[in-house]
Amino acid sequence: MTPFALKNGQLCAEAVTFSDIAERFGTPCYVYSRAALEAALDEFHQELIGVDSLVCYAVKANSNLAVLNVFAQRGAGFDIVSTGELKRALAAGATPKKIVFSGVGKSKSEMEFALSVGILCFNVESAPELDRLNEVAAHLGKKAPISLRVNPNVDAKTHPYISTGLKENKFGVAYEDALKLYQHAASLPNLEIVGIDCHIGSQLLDPAPFAEALDKILLLIDQLAAKGIHLHHIDLGGGLGIQYKDEQAPTVKSYLQPLLKKLKDRSLKILLEPGRRLVGNAGVLLTQVEYLKPGEVKNFAVIDAAMNDLARPSLYDAWHNIVPVVPRSGKSINWEVVGPICESGDFLGHDRPLSIEPGDLLAIMSVGAYGMAMSSNYNTRPRAAEVMVDQSQVFLVRRRETVEDLLALECLLP
Ligand code: LLP
Repeated sequence: MTPFALKNGQLCAEAVTFSDIAERFGTPCYVYSRAALEAALDEFHQELIGVDSLVCYAVKANSNLAVLNVFAQRGAGFDIVSTGELKRALAAGATPKKIVFSGVGKSKSEMEFALSVGILCFNVESAPELDRLNEVAAHLGKKAPISLRVNPNVDAKTHPYISTGLKENKFGVAYEDALKLYQHAASLPNLEIVGIDCHIGSQLLDPAPFAEALDKILLLIDQLAAKGIHLHHIDLGGGLGIQYKDEQAPTVKSYLQPLLKKLKDRSLKILLEPGRRLVGNAGVLLTQVEYLKPGEVKNFAVIDAAMNDLARPSLYDAWHNIVPVVPRSGKSINWEVVGPICESGDFLGHDRPLSIEPGDLLAIMSVGAYGMAMSSNYNTRPRAAEVMVDQSQVFLVRRRETVEDLLALECLLP
């Protein structure tokens, strides 16, 4: 599905032109396509028909309430990593029994809140976390449902910053320690072992490491069963990649089929935690060219979006396509597309062949995941507005911040 396409010489989001959106909501502005969000989730659900399963959208990728609500309405569960994300999911209509709680640093109060809400499972990432959760649950007179996040030590072959399943990563418990830790968990009265979890990395373009990880986890499940520890579910995490440029992203089918095959004769419910794959290509950052600064060595196009709006290029050297909203016929020259922030690392794209003039609108593509969610107020820049397009309608789903919003949290010394 291509929610963002040229129609009559104008880039559109579904049936709405980006020019129209810029006029109504200003720039920079994140624009999401409802149809694209739904299609991305449906692609998973389609492959899982008849399979005892739950797709838990990883809220961290894009936590806008309207986005969460679209998924909640279609029956998705959620993978959260903080009380903040849990409250968001609930505010968006999530069912608590469809929520899993990941993350290496769950605080006592986060555990208390999640226990009081009655979530599906805590994905526990260390021995001390097991003990802490047991204590907190005892205090509340509850049993905490748990999985251990096991680190299968497979190479996800992705960017080192977003690879998480290797031994040297901070995530999960070592594969070799898992059996012992499960036995410890089984001895704790206020924990109930319900599953096992792994997440090996993000933006994976080869499905093979997922299958490799699953083989290792299945081996562990058998060892656990031999010790009398029986699991109800297996959570295979997120990580399926998307197309940003010319890379070939696997279909959900080619990702899931080998996994489902391995799981066919096991009576295990399957949980998945996709983030990027559900939202990445459903979002665009709409921005305007402020100034052109052609130079001897480089040509700079200064736009009104910056690294505070979209950190991925600066942070990971990530490549996002940048396209004019109303393409010009003139000759293209190469531009360094940069923001107004006072850092040389504030770029959105290097060496982009574009035919542009000041005032032109540009669309930065594939930013639905880890775009707005990782934005900041650096340089006291109010965060962008977010809108959701639904066919020919556009809804404001987060108003643009004002400087007053930012100052309101601070005060002078008495
Ligand atoms: N589950 C867990 C436990 C995770 O840590 C993550 C992502 C996901 C699921 C979702 O992964 P996904 O399906 O989105 O790959 N900021 C980076 C990505 C960081 C991913 C962190 N964990 C980026 O912009 O590329």
